[in-house]
Amino acid sequence: MKTYLVTGGAGFIGSNFVLYLLRTHDDIRIINVDKLTYAGNLENLSSIEHDERHIFSQTDICDKPAIEALFAQYKPDYVVNFAAESHVDRSIATPEIFAHTNVMGTVTMLNAAKAAWIEPDGSFGDHKYLQVSTDEVYGSLSIDEPDSFFRETTPINPHSPYSASKAASDMFVKAYGDTYGMPINITRCSNNYGPFQFPEKLIPLMINNALQHEHLPIYGDGKNIRDWLYVEDHCKAIDMVLSNGTIGEVYNVGGHNERPNNFIVKTIIAEVSKAVNDPAINQTLITYVTDRKGHDRRYGIAPDKIKRDLGWYPETKFEDGIIKTIDWYLAHEEWMKHVTSGAYLKYYDTMYRNR
Ligand SMILES: NC(=O)c1ccc[n+]([C@@H]2O[C@H](COP(=O)([O-])OP(=O)(O)OC[C@H]3O[C@@H](n4cnc5c(N)ncnc54)[C@H](O)[C@@H]3O)[C@@H](O)[C@H]2O)c1
Repeated sequence: MKTYLVTGGAGFIGSNFVLYLLRTHDDIRIINVDKLTYAGNLENLSSIEHDERHIFSQTDICDKPAIEALFAQYKPDYVVNFAAESHVDRSIATPEIFAHTNVMGTVTMLNAAKAAWIEPDGSFGDHKYLQVSTDEVYGSLSIDEPDSFFRETTPINPHSPYSASKAASDMFVKAYGDTYGMPINITRCSNNYGPFQFPEKLIPLMINNALQHEHLPIYGDGKNIRDWLYVEDHCKAIDMVLSNGTIGEVYNVGGHNERPNNFIVKTIIAEVSKAVNDPAINQTLITYVTDRKGHDRRYGIAPDKIKRDLGWYPETKFEDGIIKTIDWYLAHEEWMKHVTSGAYLKYYDTMYRNR
């Protein structure tokens, strides 16, 4: 039996990953370590409440004694580190929180894994530490050069405090591989979408606002391009890298689904309006707002390496994934109401309502 220590497993991608692992593997145990910030929600895991293979611990990844105690108690074979502050806008407002959680949290996890796993001869046995990173560490591509893509060899060039903190974490992970011979992998994925995403991120924010006839804020001219990856495809990629990725390697994970923000918002308007039969959900709700500071223009990944070496490819076409995603949010309005109370609303007011 393999034991996975998954951090951030009550957040968007982490909870999808926990559910994916339990669905696709029998003989496993998951220790889900999450601080439950505004972005973490135990409701995401309600379907596995009684699954004995899943153990939840409300713990901060920066809490060294608590993390060491979890390693001592559960002796995980693998660590998959999702836990992070993940929203670029928040990083612009409070970079220090991102440096603390994303960088020091990663170093705390690496240290605890190293101490628990290293043998007297310096070897690490059959363990692995996987860092879930982002294509944003590569910076930005031009929208005028659609044939240029991020590759694993692209120099790291982050622009936002969020991507800087993720790049710094990646460098620590690499350093633990290079210095101590720790078995590591880093995955860098494009923008995920799907169930359980906190509605401050583009797709659920637009679905939620459209349903409430609130305005739909688009940054700048709306021509910024993101490469959308259905979250389950991402979960599968992480599982494959964990079991078959070559130690020490970085794998980019992309959806081959580049779309401008304008297209995403207009698609959501059309599909939500149709699904709930409400003509008041239309393009007059769109409001262009002052561009995000340092806004990256385009992200695009060529996922050639993971396809060639591990046989992974994005299975979900955007046209199908967006319908599945909208249907999920429409069927989970209670979830949406719950997570958008309190902290979220305060944040939403500050960021958008007063513009
Ligand atoms: N969402 C995307 O499109 C995307 C794209 C590329 C990379 N990533 C990376 O994937 C990972 C997960 O992203 P997400 O979108 O699911 O984020 P999320 O914000 O939805 O979830 C983050 C989770 O981490 C938890 N967390 C935060 N600080 C913590 C701490 N100190 N200790 C323990 N838990 C803590 C939160 O409670 C939450 O459950 C992040 O590392 C992010 O950088 C996300």
